Amino acid sequence: MSFERDILERIPPHIRGLKGYVPGKTIEEVVATYQPDRISKLASNENRWGFAPGVSEAVGRAMQVANNYPSALANNLRASLSAKLSCSQEQLVIGAGSESLLGLLCRTFFGPEDEIVTASATFVGLNIQAHIHQIPVVQVPLSPDYRFDVGAIAASVNERTRAVYIANPNNPTGTMISKQELAMLMSSLPEQVMLILDEAYVEFARENPLYPDSLPIITQPNTASHPNTLILRTFSKAYGLASFRVGYALGPAELIQALWKTKNTFEPSGISEAAAISALEDDHFLTNSVQQTREARQGFEAFLAHHQIPYVPSSANFVMLLAPDEAQALRITESLLRLGVIVRQLSPFGIPNGIRITVGLEEEMVHLKQALESCWLPG
Ligand SMILES: Cc1ncc(COP(=O)(O)O)c(C=O)c1O
Repeated sequence: MSFERDILERIPPHIRGLKGYVPGKTIEEVVATYQPDRISKLASNENRWGFAPGVSEAVGRAMQVANNYPSALANNLRASLSAKLSCSQEQLVIGAGSESLLGLLCRTFFGPEDEIVTASATFVGLNIQAHIHQIPVVQVPLSPDYRFDVGAIAASVNERTRAVYIANPNNPTGTMISKQELAMLMSSLPEQVMLILDEAYVEFARENPLYPDSLPIITQPNTASHPNTLILRTFSKAYGLASFRVGYALGPAELIQALWKTKNTFEPSGISEAAAISALEDDHFLTNSVQQTREARQGFEAFLAHHQIPYVPSSANFVMLLAPDEAQALRITESLLRLGVIVRQLSPFGIPNGIRITVGLEEEMVHLKQALESCWLPG
């Protein structure tokens, strides 16, 4: 007992004070607490249409050799991705989800003397990983329309700044930065400041002609450029493989190879690698679920406009609603939970009156709309 206490007391204060990620409620937790008639899980921006049908068979095959370690650097997935993205395999590192890659970036490139500049409300995984590695994060307020304020971010860069983190589209706001804004940011960033572009939701946004295509920054560095750019992408969202935990970073070979040395050797698992390779081959599933997501989002945004429920137009697979204040946001979230609709209240993301809702299947959207109609307006 006293031995245990001694260990706990020796935990460094910055780890002791860490709040940790508060995940959305699981289906099991909601069933146990509220026993609703049905459940619509719309809190974690997962793909509600599942994943490509070939994945199960690929996973089955990988299972047969699961007694062996996978290749240390996920060579087969890097080969598939390099062909798809027209980059070299040396420009790719695979991780167990892009959140783990954010941790990898923090522990490899930055320390307590440095600063990472980002927005006041963005993916909390960045703040947690930076905190664990004692890297100060400068949070620049979002613009009044809930977008990354690229001008203010550029103006916040100082001699301690080692990285600028942009999620495009951003979580939890669903907003994006444009081609022009990215070009402006790149032209104002000193060369030695790393630009981290987290594109977890790229598949949902890239058909918008204003959305910047970041790949040439890495694959054609002489034409479109910021030399120290890293792009993060994931198989957790549009590809529907959240539980497999696969993400990748794409960047200059010198930076990527530094990450090869510090990554956990055999992550992700061979099973997850096989799932990702199979998912990558199925363009039909991807196009289809992106299309269905767009239709569901447009339908939901029209519903919100019709009911005069304030929301922020989204470029991703979720929409952020704006309640009058935090108390109302908490009340509405709780009422939705009781009705079996799991959504995310956004105090932990820095928008206390915000509620983030993933768009999903027809029956889930019907359930959600009925539930919202009954609880958005009190009394
Ligand atoms: C912007 C952003 N980046 C990264 C992630 C992490 O994704 P994963 O670790 O599942 O790849 C998320 C997940 O919600 C996200 O919203």
